[in-house]
Amino acid sequence: MAAFNELVFSGVQPTGNLHLGNYLGAIKRFVEMQNRDAQCLYCVVDMHAITLWQDPQALRGQIREVTAAFLAAGIDPRRSIVFNQSQVPAHAELAWIFNCVARIGWLNRMTQFKDKAGKDRENASVGLYAYPVLMAADILAYRATHVPVGEDQKQHLELTRDIAQKFNTDFAGSIMAHGHGEDGFFPVTEPLIGGPAARVMSLRDGAKKMSKSDASDNSRINLTDDQDLIAQKVRKAKTDPDPLPSEAEGLKGRPEADNLVGIYAALAETTREAVLAQYGGAQFSAFKGALVDLAVEKLSPINAEMKRLTADPGHIDAVLADGAARAEAIAAPTLDAVKDIVGFVRRTRLSPV
Ligand code: TYM
Repeated sequence: MAAFNELVFSGVQPTGNLHLGNYLGAIKRFVEMQNRDAQCLYCVVDMHAITLWQDPQALRGQIREVTAAFLAAGIDPRRSIVFNQSQVPAHAELAWIFNCVARIGWLNRMTQFKDKAGKDRENASVGLYAYPVLMAADILAYRATHVPVGEDQKQHLELTRDIAQKFNTDFAGSIMAHGHGEDGFFPVTEPLIGGPAARVMSLRDGAKKMSKSDASDNSRINLTDDQDLIAQKVRKAKTDPDPLPSEAEGLKGRPEADNLVGIYAALAETTREAVLAQYGGAQFSAFKGALVDLAVEKLSPINAEMKRLTADPGHIDAVLADGAARAEAIAAPTLDAVKDIVGFVRRTRLSPV
């Protein structure tokens, strides 16, 4: 028996430099989920952003910019719920409860913490360490069943599943006593990772993920880049000397070629195989020309719409406020139920004196 309605949740950090990996691996797929008529919540995760220090003035701009990117890419704020995390207190509240469910051993295995904390782990914020627990809270505050993300979030989603399962087991008796049925209180969320651009790599190094924090701006295409910059970055992208293979098998051991073909396939909404059927045997100079044209055709309208939207922060803030109210209406009853299950005494309405 399916006890949970299908509900999609995902988040993007407002840490600047939204790039093609964020777009193809996540945001473009958010739009596809919305257009399949699922109930979708898309969140600008500002509380995650401050696990690394952010300049407060810049952070406000970045929150609005990610919101603008969502809207410019085709997320309709009437159909989907678009909001920023810090406006809905349920995220932080549930994260605390999950801090008491998750185990230190689980968090010690998180590779992203190791990457981000680097060598000076003692000096990393507690928030950076607990980051994946807040992520579980984001998802489970809505009892979301599906989460579209890029491949780099896979381990975090496995942790979310572990937290849901442990909560369901730890509190099984109380969950039943409060009438929530045998399937447990939290769904075991399905990660949706896929498509030809689940892991977009750096344009300068096919072994490294395309990332906001790469020191080289030439390693990524930012959603704010204009046509000339897109063309310049694609033309400079690292490749090997051979022509493109005719079949996907031939991309093995050629990470840069594989990456550019994957990007082309995702932008064209097709597969690597179909791209190679067209371009197999072509030299990179020709293929890069076609990739520039396609990238400019797909990204320019988003870029222009982002500019238009960010010029009107009042509108963006209104979208976020409306989204937060609708998100809160879903999350608040979940939090009330969790507090009952855990054994907290909830505030009763005071009778007038
Ligand atoms: P963030 O902000 O780093 O990235 C946002 C989304 O973009 C995807 N992504 C990529 N996809 C393909 N290739 C790449 N090179 C690439 N780089 C980034 C990410 O996988 C992600 O889907 N922890 C999350 C934010 C988050 C979240 C959540 C996501 C917070 N709470 C709840 C889902 C559900 C993050 O840092 O994403």
